[in-house]
Amino acid sequence: MKRNNAQSNCPNLQKKPIGSSMKHFIVLSVAVSCMLSLNQFSWNIEQMYEINRMVSLKEAKMGVASSQVVDDGKTPINLDHGDPTMYEEYWHLVSEKTTIVIPGNQGISYFSDVGNVCWFLEPQFARAVTRLHEVVGNAITEGYHIVVGTGSSQLYQAALYALTPHGLLEPIDVVSEAPFYSSYPLITDFLESGLYRWGGDAYKYDKDGPYIEIVTTPNNPDGLTRWPVVNRSGGMLIYDLAYYWPQYTPITSPANHDIMLFTVSKCSGHAGSRIGWALVKDEAIARKMTKYIEISTIGVSKDSQIRAAKVFDVISDSHEHKGSFDGISPFFDHSYDQMTRRWQQLREAVSNGTLFSLPDFPPSALCTFSGRTFAPISAFAWLKCERVEHCANFFKQYNIYVRDGSFFGTSSNFVRISMLDRPEKFEMFIQRLMSIINSFST
Ligand SMILES: Cc1ncc(COP(=O)(O)O)c(C=O)c1O
Repeated sequence: MKRNNAQSNCPNLQKKPIGSSMKHFIVLSVAVSCMLSLNQFSWNIEQMYEINRMVSLKEAKMGVASSQVVDDGKTPINLDHGDPTMYEEYWHLVSEKTTIVIPGNQGISYFSDVGNVCWFLEPQFARAVTRLHEVVGNAITEGYHIVVGTGSSQLYQAALYALTPHGLLEPIDVVSEAPFYSSYPLITDFLESGLYRWGGDAYKYDKDGPYIEIVTTPNNPDGLTRWPVVNRSGGMLIYDLAYYWPQYTPITSPANHDIMLFTVSKCSGHAGSRIGWALVKDEAIARKMTKYIEISTIGVSKDSQIRAAKVFDVISDSHEHKGSFDGISPFFDHSYDQMTRRWQQLREAVSNGTLFSLPDFPPSALCTFSGRTFAPISAFAWLKCERVEHCANFFKQYNIYVRDGSFFGTSSNFVRISMLDRPEKFEMFIQRLMSIINSFST
């Protein structure tokens, strides 16, 4: 595999026009790639790993994409899911620091911390979460109970269960302002619960009685800051703060809502570990959420919690002890730079024609964490097709797969495009988008 990649890299790199600032990097890249292909059998895995690390380190320091991509116009590009593989590049750079070893005898018991409301919460994970929130300043943890879940998807369900008053004649409505995260209706109605049901766009909700409103801020799909919109008596709120991290939005104050959901998936990108956590003010609600997880999965993987704790500690260290990171940028600086660059590329491409439009820049704010003043940078592009009715179908003709706006409670004129995929895929997407736009401009 390595050999083929290396061989195919050599001619590709020569064909492309090269900016002077990249020459040094490319010489190193070509040299390394060609050495790998020629002498492959004399290199052992560790040496190859070290060289990959050096090249990635060089790329990260110079701020260039990890490969030179030329779009063939045919390769399927799937940006439907918010799979956060963009972060692989960073974790590759610090892979040694984040490596953990779990001996066979460790973590066998179901129980982690029997004195805690959430008895399956690993103390190491709780410490790492608390530390990270303190470092970033995006949420208050003092006086809150931490409930760990198998992704924040499980915590969403646990929160619905915990908030719903039992014994009502009808299921309680769960609403969120459109465009809302497309999984909320699916998860809410999946089991056709007698306790709750999806009630749609919070703006259109006009019933009396108890309801649950999900406030997703910054929002998926458009990255905007959100507030509750129903504001009636009998309302209960769940704040989904999956994207309240400084690569996506300015941190303006520590959040202190009654129920706040966070996920490792969108913070560090380790979606495969399936870890989320809730910060819950009320002990009785935290106990009910814990009960839900106890009954559904008898707790949450300890291995994953320990891994997530390590990742979080490395993030905190990368900001607090920059000197010991070999010149590698702190995690949130690196990811903020990547996101900013991607959005510049996308806006530039879209501005070349009138086929598509993107929402205007939201207002900027001072980020208390980074000291930068910037406008929210969404993890997804919420793009409108200006000349066709069904935007997702239009993209499909070009082998680009994106999510139809109707899943978010709005119209099919819109699509959601993930901005979090691997550099090669994003680069290919931008190239194809530009060629579509050009073909309609002439
Ligand atoms: C707003 C929001 N909440 C929750 C989730 C689910 O996160 P997890 O992977 O922790 O289940 C996502 C994933 O895309 C999301 O966008």
